[in-house]
Amino acid sequence: MTGIDDLPIRDELRGKSPYGAPQLDVPVRLNTNENPHPLPEALVARIAERVAEAARELNRYPDRDAVELRGELARYLTRTAGHEVTAENVWAANGSNEVLQQLLQAFGGPGRTAIGFEPSYSMHALIARGTGTGWISGPRNDDFTIDVEAAKAVIAERRPHVVFVCSPNNPTGTAVDAETVLALYDAAQAARPAMVIVDEAYGEFSHRPSLLPLIDGRPGLVVSRTMSKAFGAAGLRLGYLAAHPAVVDAVQLVRLPYHLSAVTQATALAALEHTDTLLGYVRQLKDERDRLVAELRAMGCEVTDSDANFVQFGNFDGPGGAHAVWQALLERGVLVRDNGVPGRLRVTAGTPAENDAFLDAVRAVLKENNR
Ligand SMILES: Cc1ncc(COP(=O)(O)O)c(C=O)c1O
Repeated sequence: MTGIDDLPIRDELRGKSPYGAPQLDVPVRLNTNENPHPLPEALVARIAERVAEAARELNRYPDRDAVELRGELARYLTRTAGHEVTAENVWAANGSNEVLQQLLQAFGGPGRTAIGFEPSYSMHALIARGTGTGWISGPRNDDFTIDVEAAKAVIAERRPHVVFVCSPNNPTGTAVDAETVLALYDAAQAARPAMVIVDEAYGEFSHRPSLLPLIDGRPGLVVSRTMSKAFGAAGLRLGYLAAHPAVVDAVQLVRLPYHLSAVTQATALAALEHTDTLLGYVRQLKDERDRLVAELRAMGCEVTDSDANFVQFGNFDGPGGAHAVWQALLERGVLVRDNGVPGRLRVTAGTPAENDAFLDAVRAVLKENNR
Protein backbone atom coordinates (compact mmCIF):
# COMPACT_ATOMS: atom_id res chain seq x y z
CA MET A 1 0.00 0.00 0.00
CA THR A 2 1.25 3.46 -0.82
CA GLY A 3 2.28 5.50 2.21
CA ILE A 4 3.48 9.08 2.64
CA ASP A 5 7.09 8.07 2.26
CA ASP A 6 6.39 6.57 -1.18
CA LEU A 7 5.40 10.06 -2.35
CA PRO A 8 7.92 12.70 -3.44
CA ILE A 9 7.41 14.49 -0.11
CA ARG A 10 9.93 17.05 1.19
CA ASP A 11 12.76 15.26 3.02
CA GLU A 12 12.17 17.10 6.31
CA LEU A 13 8.57 15.76 6.45
CA ARG A 14 9.51 12.11 5.94
CA GLY A 15 8.58 9.86 8.88
CA LYS A 16 6.89 12.69 10.80
CA SER A 17 3.44 12.62 12.48
CA PRO A 18 0.91 15.46 12.47
CA TYR A 19 0.69 17.67 15.57
CA GLY A 20 -2.25 17.10 17.87
CA ALA A 21 -3.26 16.19 21.38
CA PRO A 22 -5.45 13.07 21.69
CA GLN A 23 -9.14 14.02 21.33
CA LEU A 24 -10.52 11.31 23.63
CA ASP A 25 -14.12 11.10 24.77
CA VAL A 26 -13.67 11.09 28.55
CA PRO A 27 -15.72 12.82 31.29
CA VAL A 28 -13.09 15.43 32.23
CA ARG A 29 -11.03 16.87 29.38
CA LEU A 30 -8.32 19.21 30.63
CA ASN A 31 -5.66 18.65 27.98
CA THR A 32 -5.85 21.40 25.35
CA ASN A 33 -6.05 24.65 27.34
CA GLU A 34 -9.57 25.32 26.14
CA ASN A 35 -11.92 27.57 28.08
CA PRO A 36 -14.49 25.31 29.80
CA HIS A 37 -17.29 27.88 29.61
CA PRO A 38 -19.59 27.57 26.60
CA LEU A 39 -20.39 30.94 25.04
CA PRO A 40 -23.31 32.68 26.80
CA GLU A 41 -26.72 32.27 25.12
CA ALA A 42 -27.01 36.01 24.39
CA LEU A 43 -23.76 35.81 22.44
CA VAL A 44 -24.86 32.65 20.62
CA ALA A 45 -27.99 34.54 19.51
CA ARG A 46 -25.93 37.55 18.40
CA ILE A 47 -23.61 35.27 16.39
CA ALA A 48 -26.67 33.77 14.67
CA GLU A 49 -27.86 37.28 13.77
CA ARG A 50 -24.53 38.49 12.45
CA VAL A 51 -23.85 35.25 10.58
CA ALA A 52 -27.34 35.45 8.98
CA GLU A 53 -26.47 38.96 7.78
CA ALA A 54 -23.16 37.72 6.39
CA ALA A 55 -24.90 34.72 4.76
CA ARG A 56 -26.99 37.05 2.62
CA GLU A 57 -23.77 38.11 0.92
CA LEU A 58 -21.93 34.80 0.77
CA ASN A 59 -22.08 34.93 -3.04
CA ARG A 60 -19.40 37.63 -2.68
CA TYR A 61 -15.86 37.23 -1.34
CA PRO A 62 -15.41 38.55 2.21
CA ASP A 63 -13.67 41.80 3.12
CA ARG A 64 -10.15 40.71 2.18
CA ASP A 65 -8.53 43.09 4.65
CA ALA A 66 -11.03 42.43 7.49
CA VAL A 67 -10.99 46.15 8.25
CA GLU A 68 -13.95 46.30 10.65
CA LEU A 69 -12.69 43.30 12.63
CA ARG A 70 -9.14 44.65 12.84
CA GLY A 71 -10.56 47.94 14.10
CA GLU A 72 -12.53 46.19 16.84
CA LEU A 73 -9.53 44.05 17.83
CA ALA A 74 -7.46 47.25 18.03
CA ARG A 75 -10.13 48.81 20.27
CA TYR A 76 -10.05 45.73 22.51
CA LEU A 77 -6.24 45.85 22.80
CA THR A 78 -6.23 49.58 23.46
CA ARG A 79 -8.74 49.04 26.26
CA THR A 80 -7.14 46.02 27.88
CA ALA A 81 -3.45 45.82 26.95
CA GLY A 82 -2.13 49.21 28.01
CA HIS A 83 -1.19 50.64 24.62
CA GLU A 84 -3.11 52.49 21.95
CA VAL A 85 -3.22 50.69 18.60
CA THR A 86 -5.33 51.11 15.46
CA ALA A 87 -6.50 48.77 12.69
CA GLU A 88 -3.24 49.55 10.86
CA ASN A 89 -1.29 47.86 13.69
CA VAL A 90 -3.47 44.76 13.72
CA TRP A 91 -3.71 41.72 11.46
CA ALA A 92 -6.05 38.73 11.89
CA ALA A 93 -6.02 35.15 10.61
CA ASN A 94 -7.49 31.70 11.26
CA GLY A 95 -6.10 31.14 14.74
CA SER A 96 -2.82 32.51 16.00
CA ASN A 97 -1.20 29.44 14.48
CA GLU A 98 -1.96 30.92 11.06
CA VAL A 99 -0.67 34.32 12.22
CA LEU A 100 2.60 32.64 13.28
CA GLN A 101 2.79 30.74 10.01
CA GLN A 102 2.32 33.94 8.00
CA LEU A 103 5.05 35.62 10.07
CA LEU A 104 7.47 32.78 9.31
CA GLN A 105 6.46 32.78 5.64
CA ALA A 106 7.36 36.46 5.55
CA PHE A 107 10.39 36.57 7.86
CA GLY A 108 11.66 32.96 7.99
CA GLY A 109 11.96 30.41 5.17
CA PRO A 110 14.78 28.46 3.52
CA GLY A 111 18.23 29.65 4.53
CA ARG A 112 16.86 31.41 7.63
CA THR A 113 16.50 30.32 11.26
CA ALA A 114 14.16 30.84 14.20
CA ILE A 115 14.87 30.25 17.90
CA GLY A 116 12.55 29.36 20.78
CA PHE A 117 13.34 28.66 24.44
CA GLU A 118 12.23 25.12 25.22
CA PRO A 119 10.15 23.59 26.62
CA SER A 120 7.72 25.90 24.88
CA TYR A 121 4.79 25.74 22.48
CA SER A 122 5.88 22.96 20.14
CA MET A 123 4.04 24.45 17.15
CA HIS A 124 6.68 27.18 16.95
CA ALA A 125 9.23 24.57 15.87
CA LEU A 126 6.69 22.75 13.69
CA ILE A 127 5.64 25.92 11.86
CA ALA A 128 9.34 26.61 11.34
CA ARG A 129 9.71 23.16 9.79
CA GLY A 130 6.60 23.63 7.63
CA THR A 131 7.93 26.91 6.26
CA GLY A 132 11.44 25.56 5.65
CA THR A 133 12.89 27.69 8.46
CA GLY A 134 15.78 26.19 10.45
CA TRP A 135 15.03 25.68 14.18
CA ILE A 136 17.30 26.47 17.12
CA SER A 137 16.33 25.19 20.57
CA GLY A 138 17.32 27.81 23.16
CA PRO A 139 17.87 27.20 26.89
CA ARG A 140 15.77 27.72 30.03
CA ASN A 141 16.68 27.67 33.71
CA ASP A 142 15.67 24.72 35.92
CA ASP A 143 12.68 26.76 37.13
CA PHE A 144 11.59 27.18 33.46
CA THR A 145 12.33 30.91 33.32
CA ILE A 146 14.41 32.04 30.34
CA ASP A 147 18.15 32.01 31.07
CA VAL A 148 18.76 35.53 29.75
CA GLU A 149 22.57 35.39 29.61
CA ALA A 150 22.58 31.99 27.89
CA ALA A 151 19.83 33.18 25.52
CA LYS A 152 21.80 36.30 24.60
CA ALA A 153 24.89 34.18 23.99
CA VAL A 154 23.11 31.75 21.66
CA ILE A 155 21.46 34.63 19.78
CA ALA A 156 24.86 36.32 19.33
CA GLU A 157 26.37 33.06 18.11
CA ARG A 158 23.59 31.72 15.87
CA ARG A 159 22.14 35.07 14.67
CA PRO A 160 18.52 33.88 14.18
CA HIS A 161 16.16 35.79 11.89
CA VAL A 162 13.20 35.17 14.21
CA VAL A 163 13.07 34.89 18.02
CA PHE A 164 10.01 33.37 19.71
CA VAL A 165 9.16 34.44 23.25
CA CYS A 166 6.05 32.76 24.65
CA SER A 167 4.49 34.65 27.58
CA PRO A 168 2.87 33.10 29.49
CA ASN A 169 4.80 30.11 28.23
CA ASN A 170 3.06 26.92 27.20
CA PRO A 171 3.42 24.32 28.76
CA THR A 172 5.08 25.78 31.87
CA GLY A 173 2.78 28.79 32.55
CA THR A 174 5.82 31.04 33.05
CA ALA A 175 5.35 34.75 32.27
CA VAL A 176 8.25 36.76 30.83
CA ASP A 177 9.03 40.26 32.03
CA ALA A 178 9.60 43.26 29.77
CA GLU A 179 13.31 43.50 30.68
CA THR A 180 13.90 39.96 29.41
CA VAL A 181 12.10 40.62 26.13
CA LEU A 182 14.06 43.85 25.65
CA ALA A 183 17.36 42.08 26.36
CA LEU A 184 16.54 39.42 23.76
CA TYR A 185 15.30 42.05 21.29
CA ASP A 186 18.50 44.06 21.61
CA ALA A 187 20.66 40.94 21.32
CA ALA A 188 18.75 39.84 18.20
CA GLN A 189 19.01 43.26 16.54
CA ALA A 190 22.72 43.46 17.39
CA ALA A 191 23.28 40.21 15.51
CA ARG A 192 21.20 41.13 12.43
CA PRO A 193 17.83 42.83 11.69
CA ALA A 194 15.50 40.24 13.24
CA MET A 195 11.87 39.78 14.26
CA VAL A 196 10.93 39.00 17.87
CA ILE A 197 7.51 37.35 18.16
CA VAL A 198 5.93 37.54 21.59
CA ASP A 199 3.24 34.85 21.72
CA GLU A 200 0.63 36.06 24.21
CA ALA A 201 -2.01 33.40 23.48
CA TYR A 202 -2.67 33.28 27.25
CA GLY A 203 -2.01 36.97 27.94
CA GLU A 204 -5.40 37.69 29.51
CA PHE A 205 -4.78 35.11 32.25
CA SER A 206 -1.54 36.69 33.42
CA HIS A 207 -0.89 38.69 36.59
CA ARG A 208 1.52 40.76 34.54
CA PRO A 209 0.56 43.47 32.05
CA SER A 210 0.70 42.71 28.34
CA LEU A 211 4.02 43.23 26.55
CA LEU A 212 2.14 45.12 23.82
CA PRO A 213 3.56 48.57 24.77
CA LEU A 214 6.99 47.26 23.71
CA ILE A 215 6.00 47.48 20.02
CA ASP A 216 6.31 51.26 20.33
CA GLY A 217 9.42 52.29 18.38
CA ARG A 218 10.37 48.65 17.74
CA PRO A 219 9.28 47.60 14.24
CA GLY A 220 10.92 44.20 14.77
CA LEU A 221 8.62 43.28 17.67
CA VAL A 222 5.28 41.53 17.17
CA VAL A 223 2.70 40.50 19.77
CA SER A 224 0.50 37.57 18.80
CA ARG A 225 -2.89 36.94 20.44
CA THR A 226 -5.89 34.66 20.06
CA MET A 227 -9.62 34.48 20.74
CA SER A 228 -9.26 30.71 21.37
CA LYS A 229 -8.52 30.99 25.09
CA ALA A 230 -9.76 34.14 26.89
CA PHE A 231 -12.74 34.55 24.52
CA GLY A 232 -13.64 30.88 24.88
CA ALA A 233 -13.77 30.56 21.11
CA ALA A 234 -11.25 27.87 20.14
CA GLY A 235 -13.71 26.59 17.53
CA LEU A 236 -13.92 29.99 15.86
CA ARG A 237 -10.26 30.01 14.72
CA LEU A 238 -9.41 33.67 15.16
CA GLY A 239 -5.94 34.86 16.03
CA TYR A 240 -4.37 38.28 15.55
CA LEU A 241 -1.18 40.24 15.90
CA ALA A 242 -0.28 43.78 16.82
CA ALA A 243 2.87 45.41 15.50
CA HIS A 244 4.22 48.30 13.45
CA PRO A 245 2.03 48.81 10.31
CA ALA A 246 4.97 47.70 8.14
CA VAL A 247 4.70 44.20 9.68
CA VAL A 248 1.02 44.12 8.71
CA ASP A 249 2.02 45.09 5.16
CA ALA A 250 4.63 42.30 5.15
CA VAL A 251 2.24 39.49 6.18
CA GLN A 252 -0.16 40.62 3.46
CA LEU A 253 2.47 39.55 0.93
CA VAL A 254 2.07 35.91 2.00
CA ARG A 255 -1.56 35.63 3.15
CA LEU A 256 -3.95 33.84 0.82
CA PRO A 257 -6.54 36.19 -0.66
CA TYR A 258 -9.81 36.13 1.34
CA HIS A 259 -8.23 33.87 3.98
CA LEU A 260 -10.70 34.99 6.69
CA SER A 261 -14.24 33.92 5.78
CA ALA A 262 -17.19 36.30 6.13
CA VAL A 263 -18.67 33.84 8.68
CA THR A 264 -15.48 33.97 10.77
CA GLN A 265 -15.37 37.77 10.65
CA ALA A 266 -19.05 38.08 11.62
CA THR A 267 -18.66 35.61 14.50
CA ALA A 268 -15.54 37.31 15.86
CA LEU A 269 -17.24 40.72 15.72
CA ALA A 270 -20.20 39.33 17.67
CA ALA A 271 -17.86 37.86 20.31
CA LEU A 272 -16.06 41.18 20.70
CA GLU A 273 -19.42 42.82 21.50
CA HIS A 274 -19.53 40.50 24.56
CA THR A 275 -15.99 41.14 25.76
CA ASP A 276 -16.96 42.11 29.30
CA THR A 277 -18.95 38.93 29.97
CA LEU A 278 -16.18 36.78 28.52
CA LEU A 279 -13.49 38.53 30.58
CA GLY A 280 -15.64 37.76 33.64
CA TYR A 281 -15.10 34.04 32.91
CA VAL A 282 -11.35 34.74 32.66
CA ARG A 283 -11.38 36.12 36.22
CA GLN A 284 -13.12 32.94 37.46
CA LEU A 285 -10.60 30.77 35.62
CA LYS A 286 -7.68 32.65 37.16
CA ASP A 287 -9.12 31.90 40.60
CA GLU A 288 -9.53 28.25 39.66
CA ARG A 289 -5.96 28.17 38.31
CA ASP A 290 -4.67 29.56 41.61
CA ARG A 291 -6.72 26.96 43.49
CA LEU A 292 -5.18 24.15 41.40
CA VAL A 293 -1.69 25.47 42.18
CA ALA A 294 -2.42 25.67 45.92
CA GLU A 295 -4.08 22.25 46.18
CA LEU A 296 -1.46 20.45 44.10
CA ARG A 297 1.28 21.98 46.26
CA ALA A 298 -0.61 20.93 49.40
CA MET A 299 -0.52 17.34 48.07
CA GLY A 300 3.25 17.59 47.78
CA CYS A 301 3.47 18.10 44.00
CA GLU A 302 6.07 20.42 42.50
CA VAL A 303 4.10 23.11 40.68
CA THR A 304 5.52 25.75 38.33
CA ASP A 305 4.16 29.26 39.00
CA SER A 306 1.47 29.84 36.38
CA ASP A 307 0.22 32.98 34.66
CA ALA A 308 -1.90 31.00 32.22
CA ASN A 309 -5.13 28.97 32.27
CA PHE A 310 -3.14 25.79 32.92
CA VAL A 311 -0.70 24.45 35.46
CA GLN A 312 2.46 22.35 35.05
CA PHE A 313 2.87 19.87 37.87
CA GLY A 314 5.06 16.92 38.91
CA ASN A 315 7.68 15.88 39.66
CA PHE A 316 6.89 12.29 38.77
CA ASP A 317 10.08 10.30 38.78
CA GLY A 318 8.64 6.91 39.77
CA PRO A 319 8.43 3.91 37.39
CA GLY A 320 6.95 5.01 34.05
CA GLY A 321 7.54 8.68 34.96
CA ALA A 322 4.95 11.30 34.10
CA HIS A 323 3.39 9.14 31.41
CA ALA A 324 2.38 6.47 33.93
CA VAL A 325 0.61 9.16 35.98
CA TRP A 326 -1.05 10.51 32.81
CA GLN A 327 -2.35 6.99 32.09
CA ALA A 328 -3.56 6.48 35.67
CA LEU A 329 -5.47 9.79 35.55
CA LEU A 330 -7.00 8.80 32.21
CA GLU A 331 -8.18 5.52 33.75
CA ARG A 332 -10.04 7.70 36.27
CA GLY A 333 -11.71 9.63 33.45
CA VAL A 334 -9.42 12.67 33.58
CA LEU A 335 -7.46 13.67 30.48
CA VAL A 336 -4.45 15.95 31.03
CA ARG A 337 -1.45 16.64 28.76
CA ASP A 338 1.89 14.93 28.67
CA ASN A 339 4.01 17.42 26.73
CA GLY A 340 7.12 15.30 27.05
CA VAL A 341 8.66 17.52 29.74
CA PRO A 342 10.43 14.96 31.95
CA GLY A 343 8.50 14.27 35.16
CA ARG A 344 5.85 16.90 34.43
CA LEU A 345 2.23 16.98 33.27
CA ARG A 346 0.02 19.94 32.35
CA VAL A 347 -3.58 20.42 33.41
CA THR A 348 -5.94 23.06 32.02
CA ALA A 349 -8.10 24.94 34.54
CA GLY A 350 -11.66 23.71 33.97
CA THR A 351 -14.93 24.33 35.76
CA PRO A 352 -14.84 24.01 39.57
CA ALA A 353 -16.45 20.54 39.27
CA GLU A 354 -13.91 19.40 36.64
CA ASN A 355 -11.05 20.70 38.77
CA ASP A 356 -12.43 18.87 41.82
CA ALA A 357 -12.59 15.65 39.79
CA PHE A 358 -9.01 16.20 38.63
CA LEU A 359 -7.72 16.92 42.14
CA ASP A 360 -9.50 13.83 43.54
CA ALA A 361 -7.95 11.71 40.79
CA VAL A 362 -4.44 13.05 41.51
CA ARG A 363 -4.92 12.39 45.22
CA ALA A 364 -6.00 8.81 44.48
CA VAL A 365 -3.10 8.19 42.10
CA LEU A 366 -0.52 9.61 44.53
CA LYS A 367 -1.94 7.46 47.33
CA GLU A 368 -1.81 4.36 45.15
CA ASN A 369 1.77 5.09 44.07
CA ASN A 370 2.92 5.54 47.67
CA ARG A 371 1.42 2.26 48.76
C1 LIG B 1 1.29 29.44 23.11
C2 LIG B 1 0.27 29.20 22.08
N1 LIG B 1 0.28 29.96 20.98
C3 LIG B 1 -0.63 29.79 20.01
C4 LIG B 1 -1.60 28.83 20.11
C5 LIG B 1 -2.52 28.65 18.96
O1 LIG B 1 -3.80 28.97 19.22
P1 LIG B 1 -4.87 29.28 18.11
O2 LIG B 1 -4.32 28.85 16.78
O3 LIG B 1 -6.06 28.51 18.53
O4 LIG B 1 -5.05 30.76 18.17
C6 LIG B 1 -1.67 28.01 21.23
C7 LIG B 1 -2.70 26.97 21.35
O5 LIG B 1 -2.77 26.18 22.22
C8 LIG B 1 -0.70 28.20 22.24
O6 LIG B 1 -0.67 27.42 23.32
